[in-house]
Amino acid sequence: MPGLKYMSGFGNEHVSEDPRCPGALPEGQNNPQVCPYGLYAEQLSGSAFTCPRPTNKRSWLYRILPSVCHKPFQPLEEGHLTHNWDDIEPDPNQLRWKPFEIPKVSQNKLDFVSGLHTLCGAGEPRGRNGIAIHIFVCNTSMLDRCFYNSDGDFLIVPQQGKLLITTEFGKLLVEPNEICVIQQGMRFSVEVFGETRGYILEVYGAHFELPDLGPIGANGLANPRDFLVPVAWYEDRQVPGGYTVISKYQGKLFAAQQDFSPFNVVAWHGNYTPYKYNLDNFMVINAVAFDHADPSIFTVLTAKSARPGVALADFVIFPPRWGVANNTFRPPYYHRNCMSEFMGLIRGHYEAKEEGFQPGGASLHSMMTPHGPDADCFEKASKAKLEPERVAEGTMAFMFESSFSLAVTKWGLKTSNRLDKNYYKCWEPLKSHFNPNCK
Ligand SMILES: [Fe+2]
Repeated sequence: MPGLKYMSGFGNEHVSEDPRCPGALPEGQNNPQVCPYGLYAEQLSGSAFTCPRPTNKRSWLYRILPSVCHKPFQPLEEGHLTHNWDDIEPDPNQLRWKPFEIPKVSQNKLDFVSGLHTLCGAGEPRGRNGIAIHIFVCNTSMLDRCFYNSDGDFLIVPQQGKLLITTEFGKLLVEPNEICVIQQGMRFSVEVFGETRGYILEVYGAHFELPDLGPIGANGLANPRDFLVPVAWYEDRQVPGGYTVISKYQGKLFAAQQDFSPFNVVAWHGNYTPYKYNLDNFMVINAVAFDHADPSIFTVLTAKSARPGVALADFVIFPPRWGVANNTFRPPYYHRNCMSEFMGLIRGHYEAKEEGFQPGGASLHSMMTPHGPDADCFEKASKAKLEPERVAEGTMAFMFESSFSLAVTKWGLKTSNRLDKNYYKCWEPLKSHFNPNCK
């Protein structure tokens, strides 16, 4: 959308006023007896009040009416959203899905909320420890309805179609190759412009942060200044037919009616906000002599667990870059991982699987399940002349890597009907090259 403005910086203390109401932010205090313009003050907490300063998050919202003005919540049909991880037997196999189908608007009208489909996950929101991976497919905008997640944070990865997201903090336009994070409790409504698809990583109990850089130093990977935060925007709109506020609470959906738009925040300040990031801004680090660095060098954001160095989930990308390593098998090595690896493809061709892994599809390599390049990739890369070469040109693949052992839902394994039953065959042509007489 032309004209959308943003402020920059990851986790900064921002201040923003809708320019129609200059001076809407109280000066020198949060809670004056009467707020400017007759607004209500409301705090949105993103951390315990007593968290240490580096992890303490809250924002103050100055709004036309407080969020509490609504009728009671009533249960709402969940569709394919779930956190029931015992619906179907576990499956340790390498799993790959063809691109998830987006229904035509004439067949099945889906908006961002009704189009949420849970693919896999573990843990549960009440204990504040777990993750879920959802696919969203939608073809229509949310009309007089907004959503907020009481359970955790959404990291949204659009793959097809752009999202115009109106939040309590302002508007964000998020296009494929950008991501956005809508944190716990933030109300938002999604406008789409056609058939739209993407991936969501939901984490319960932690917020996303930038990974530590260690010996890399002060700069590199995702730089803080490239994260963009919306500016205050409000509408003073009565909705006599009823505006629906949807809450995801303890894994279930609930809806409450109110007669006004919730996007009535005239000004806000704080460090707890939604934000977006363009993946092209990622400063890629890689091996420049031989061998591979582990894929943790591609971490954009991490949601840490209580165990040092172990993430609930990392968001990792495989962006276009140079491959220059000498005497090295350059595609990813074969491996078995004590973490779960979910991968998606925003565009292009992933280097370890030129065929079969398609934009809008996905793969899951579960805990300790072996995987690696397909036979074709192995043969080619073993013989390739090792010149500097562009890798993943025109491609953006990503991984949600989690320390949880993920259960796949019934929708993922059966109902979606997108599972590629022949995935295992991509490794079958791998043959032994072993010759004890030839080193
Ligand atoms: Fe892997």
